[in-house]
Amino acid sequence: MMVIKFVRCVLLDVILLACIVPAVSSSGSDFTSTVKRFPSISNLDGICTLTNSSGDDGPAFTAAILSDQCSTVNIPAGTTINIASPLNTSATYNKHISLAGTLSFTDDTTYWQQNSFKFTYQNATTFWLLGGKNISLYGGGTIQGNGQAWYNLYSTNSSVLRPIPLTIYEAINIVVRDITVLQTPFWNFFVSDSKKIVFDDITLHSTSTIAGIDAKNTDGWDIYRSDDVTITNSQITNQDDCVSFKPNSTNVLVQNLICNGSHGISVGSLGQYNGEFDLVENVSVSNIHMLNAQNGVRIKSWAGPNVGSGLVKNISYSHWQEDNVDNPIIIDSCFMTNTTTCTQYPSKVPTEDVYISYINGTSSGQEQSVVVNLNCSPGGTCSNIKLDNIALSPPAKYGLATYLCANIKVLGNAASLFNC
Ligand SMILES: *[C@@H]1O[C@H](CO)[C@@H](O)[C@H](O)[C@H]1NC(C)=O
Ligand SMILES: *[C@@H]1O[C@H](CO)[C@@H](O)[C@H](O)[C@H]1NC(C)=O
Ligand SMILES: *[C@@H]1O[C@H](CO)[C@@H](O)[C@H](O)[C@H]1NC(C)=O
Ligand SMILES: *[C@@H]1O[C@H](CO)[C@@H](O)[C@H](O)[C@H]1NC(C)=O
Ligand SMILES: *[C@@H]1O[C@H](CO)[C@@H](O)[C@H](O)[C@H]1NC(C)=O
Ligand SMILES: *[C@@H]1O[C@H](CO)[C@@H](O)[C@H](O)[C@H]1NC(C)=O
Ligand SMILES: *[C@@H]1O[C@H](CO)[C@@H](O)[C@H](O)[C@H]1NC(C)=O
Ligand SMILES: *[C@@H]1O[C@H](CO)[C@@H](O)[C@H](O)[C@H]1NC(C)=O
Ligand SMILES: *[C@@H]1O[C@H](CO)[C@@H](O)[C@H](O)[C@H]1NC(C)=O
Ligand SMILES: *[C@@H]1O[C@H](CO)[C@@H](O)[C@H](O)[C@H]1NC(C)=O
Ligand SMILES: *[C@@H]1O[C@H](CO)[C@@H](O)[C@H](O)[C@H]1NC(C)=O
Repeated sequence: MMVIKFVRCVLLDVILLACIVPAVSSSGSDFTSTVKRFPSISNLDGICTLTNSSGDDGPAFTAAILSDQCSTVNIPAGTTINIASPLNTSATYNKHISLAGTLSFTDDTTYWQQNSFKFTYQNATTFWLLGGKNISLYGGGTIQGNGQAWYNLYSTNSSVLRPIPLTIYEAINIVVRDITVLQTPFWNFFVSDSKKIVFDDITLHSTSTIAGIDAKNTDGWDIYRSDDVTITNSQITNQDDCVSFKPNSTNVLVQNLICNGSHGISVGSLGQYNGEFDLVENVSVSNIHMLNAQNGVRIKSWAGPNVGSGLVKNISYSHWQEDNVDNPIIIDSCFMTNTTTCTQYPSKVPTEDVYISYINGTSSGQEQSVVVNLNCSPGGTCSNIKLDNIALSPPAKYGLATYLCANIKVLGNAASLFNC
């Protein structure tokens, strides 16, 4: 009897609520142990349902995820659980987390600055560390970051470390599907030291409601030291990178995104830290609608004294529509330096085998007539960069499009558009 119920749940796991109903309405007595310390969890046949305790639901949520008694942790539609303490679910195995309701992080900025989990990389901090193996998070629900208090505070003090709602750390085989994240204080998702990670059908929306204060650094995804990551079928409104491939992102597929208001889909920046080697290899980004953005296609690496090294290899950007984008295509291998310094200390991040094709649309006019800028470092660091079927124009008042390049031999049928 119980076995049959479980088989049904596994088969129906994409529409989990449909399988909870029969499990709950039958006796459920096969599985009697409840996680007793936390009255806000009820447990039936391995499905642990959280209810709102009116206090901090963080410990109950963590206990349910880490409990062997709960193969599924369920936050039903209409339920908001409030999280007022950090969630460490690092050692999680074989778990469904069905979030149909809302997971809301409190906006006690003083508390969280002291108590969030801290990373060395870019001083990132997080509310929730999720790691382990074979975990899925799905259900149509919302993670509410309550970021406005953070945007306000950061506008007065840029030393404030703002937490990331969900960090996937030291994890393998994770699926995050059909989830919305609202008002993130900082990046939406950080994927670090992980592999086989899938994000699908994700909605991200972070905007400040106060004029003059921005929702800064609200990147969609930052991928770091991770392999085999897929991000598909998602829409993002934010105020920093839509997706960012940080050091040692390999084998990443990004498809079917609408990015609104972002800073583009970026490789880098790489080679920032002296003594470190940053690799980004095998990245494919296709079917993108990029609008109202600072950048579209972007690859940036540092040059100058005391910087690091690395390699950018086999990157493909294809089938993009861009509207109102300041820099629709930009490669900058002299990031944070001027021409003189970049000549003296060229980039140590060779950029090779980059294929950019079928990119159309309009720039914003921020760079006047310039629609593409391929600013490679002296020293021949860019090689085999190919552009095909590029149709970009500036606003009519700037006339014909300008395609800029330096220290590069552009290949492909768009080569004739360039001045170098
Ligand atoms: C849960 O908690 C919040 C804040 O305490 C409250 O506003 C909400 O109505 C509660 N109830 C449910 C069912 O989520
Ligand atoms: C999170 O929990 C894991 C497993 O219990 C532990 O090893 C790790 O130190 C904890 N991480 C933090 C940052 O507290
Ligand atoms: C993954 O976890 C689910 C949920 O607990 C479980 O049903 C499934 O068997 C697990 N898969 C593997 C390969 O362990
Ligand atoms: C991290 O914080 C330290 C100390 O506040 C600061 O010196 C450093 O510049 C910060 N690094 C980044 C990448 O923000
Ligand atoms: C800015 O925030 C940092 C980090 O919380 C804190 O140490 C510092 O005192 C704050 N500065 C001011 C002027 O409030
Ligand atoms: C893009 O974001 C802006 C600012 O939040 C919003 O007004 C606009 O409706 C969004 N456009 C689309 C197509 O989502
Ligand atoms: C990236 O991976 C290479 C090995 O491919 C390693 O040598 C390097 O230290 C890694 N860099 C970072 C920033 O993790
Ligand atoms: C380039 O990367 C793609 C994935 O984006 C992969 O399918 C392809 O095999 C790679 N090509 C080479 C030559 O490594
Ligand atoms: C890139 O893809 C190629 C072809 O699949 C593979 O041989 C190579 O190992 C991949 N590179 C990395 C860093 O995973
Ligand atoms: C370039 O940058 C270097 C180092 O910051 C500075 O010393 C130099 O004056 C700058 N040169 C120009 C032409 O701006
Ligand atoms: C741009 O490309 C998209 C999708 O490939 C296509 O639907 C659209 O008509 C194109 N627009 C222009 C102006 O070429």
